Amino acid sequence: MATSPSISFVKQGAPKKGVAVVFVDEKLALGPVAKALDEEAGGVIARAAKAAAFKGKARSTLDIVAPGGLGLDRLMVVGLGKLDDLGEQDWWNLGGAIMGKLSAASVSEVTIVLERPDGAEIDADDAANVGLGMMLRAYKFDTYKSKKKDEDENGDVKKIAIAVADAAKAKKAWARAEAVGEGSLLARKLVDEPANVLGPDEFVAEAKALEKLGVSVEILDGKKMRKLGMNALLAVAQGSARPPYLVIMSWNGGKSGDKPVAFVGKGVVFDTGGISIKPAAGMEDMKGDMGGAAAVTGLMKALAGRKAKVNAIGIIGLVENMPDGLAQRPGDIIAAANGVTIEVLNTDAEGRLVLADALWYAEETYSPKMIVDLATLTGACVVALGHEYAALYANDDDLAGALFAAGTASGEKVWRMPLAKEYDKLIESKNADIKNTGGRWAGSITAAQFLQRFVKDTPWAHLDIAGTAMGSPKTDISQGWSSGFGVRLLDRMVADTYEK
Ligand code: BES
Ligand code: MN
Ligand code: ZN
Repeated sequence: MATSPSISFVKQGAPKKGVAVVFVDEKLALGPVAKALDEEAGGVIARAAKAAAFKGKARSTLDIVAPGGLGLDRLMVVGLGKLDDLGEQDWWNLGGAIMGKLSAASVSEVTIVLERPDGAEIDADDAANVGLGMMLRAYKFDTYKSKKKDEDENGDVKKIAIAVADAAKAKKAWARAEAVGEGSLLARKLVDEPANVLGPDEFVAEAKALEKLGVSVEILDGKKMRKLGMNALLAVAQGSARPPYLVIMSWNGGKSGDKPVAFVGKGVVFDTGGISIKPAAGMEDMKGDMGGAAAVTGLMKALAGRKAKVNAIGIIGLVENMPDGLAQRPGDIIAAANGVTIEVLNTDAEGRLVLADALWYAEETYSPKMIVDLATLTGACVVALGHEYAALYANDDDLAGALFAAGTASGEKVWRMPLAKEYDKLIESKNADIKNTGGRWAGSITAAQFLQRFVKDTPWAHLDIAGTAMGSPKTDISQGWSSGFGVRLLDRMVADTYEK
C-alpha cells in the first residue's frame, strides 16, 4: 500500500521554494500571503487566470510552473468557489482535490497556504479536514504492484506542510482527524487485501495490533464458541480449512462503570456462497465480504487513536464461507446461541448466521447502551440503494436519527428502511423457528428481520453496507475499490451522541 504522506501544520507565511498552493474565490481575490507572493511575481495570477480562462470555481486549479520573481517551482492556485457556501465537507473535498492535482503533477513536497481571500479565519477543524481529505485521497492499494510507477501513473506526494494562522490549534485538531483517517485507511486496506493474504488468522493479528493503542483484544476460538453454543457462526466456518474467531476489542475511554456502546461486524474473509455456490463472474469481489468487520476494526483504531471519551466494544465474527466435505448443506438445521433454531436453506445467506451469534454475544456479555452492526449482507441492498447510501434498520428512532445525522455530516450516508412484523412471515420455516432466506422480495429487509431475532431489548441498528463498502464511486476523497465506509460515520455518531 502506498505510504501515507506526512502532513504537518506550520505557521502561516510565504513559502520561498518548492511548490506552493494558494486559494482564490470566484472574484479571484487572494488572501494576504497569496497576495504578497503574487505581487512579488508581478501579478502573475491574474494574467495566468485570464490566459487559462480560470474562474476560481470550487476545486478548480490553475498551475503556474516556475513563476518569475519567485523561488518557487510551481504556484498552484486553487478555487474555493463561493466563500459563503463553504461547509465542513467542502474542506475535506478540497484537500482531496488538491491531493489529486498534486500527484497528477508529480509533486512530492508542497506547502499549502491555507487562508481565505476574505481574510476570515479558518477554523482549526476545517484546516484539519483539509489534511484529512488529502490523507484519504492519497490511499492506493498497490502493495502487489512490482512497479509502483508507470507512464500513466504519477508519483506519490510525500511531504505536505499546511500553513495556517494558528498552527498550534490546527495541530491539535489534526491529531484527532488523523486518527480517524487512519481508522478509515485501515478499513480500506482490510477490504482490499485478497483472501489468501487476509484470512481469519491474519485478521486477528490486525485486531491484535490495536493493543499498542490501548485497545484490549480478546479472542474466542472455535472451541470456546462451541462451548457457548455459537453454532450459527460455526456452521458457516465448518466448510473452510481456516478456523473461525470471534474477536472482541474494547476501548475504555469513558467513565468506569459506564455501559459501553457496541459495534458488531460481519467478517466473512471470503464468501464463495458455500454449497449454494456463487457464479464465477465477480466472485473475486467477495474478498471484501469482511467490510463490516473492517469498519468495526477501523472504528476502534479511530476511537483509540483520538482517545475518545467513551467506552466502546467492537466485536467481529471472522469466518470463511467455503464448500467442502464438511461444509453445511442446504436443509441443515442449527440452533444459534440464543436457542433460536435456523433452517439453512441457502448457504450463501451466511452473513446473518455469523451476525446472529455475534449480536447475541454482544448483548449477553456487555448489556451495551446500544448495538450497531455493519455487514456486506445482501445483494438486494445494492439493488435498492446502489453504491451511494447504506441501508439503515433500527428498532429505536433516536438511534436511527443519530445515525442519519452522522451520515449526513460525514458524507457516509444512510437511508432508513423498514423493520416490520409483516415481513416475519417471509422467514418462517417449515421445519425450524426461522429460515435463513426470505425469498426474492425485500431481500435486504428480510435479512434485517432475521437479525432482529437475535437482539432482545437493546437499542439496535443494522447497516447493510454491501453497496457502500466496496465498488465505491470515485470521489474527491476516495479513489479506490474500497471506501472504508462506516468508520467516519460511526466515529461521528459516537462523538456527537456519546461523548457530549
Ligand atoms: N456477501 C453477500 C452479499 C453481497 C452481495 C455483498 C454483493 C456485496 C455485494 C451475501 O453473503 C450473500 O451472498 N447474500 C445473498 C443472500 C441470499 C442467498 C438470500 C444475496 O444477496 O444474494
Ligand atoms: Mn453469501
Ligand atoms: Zn456474504
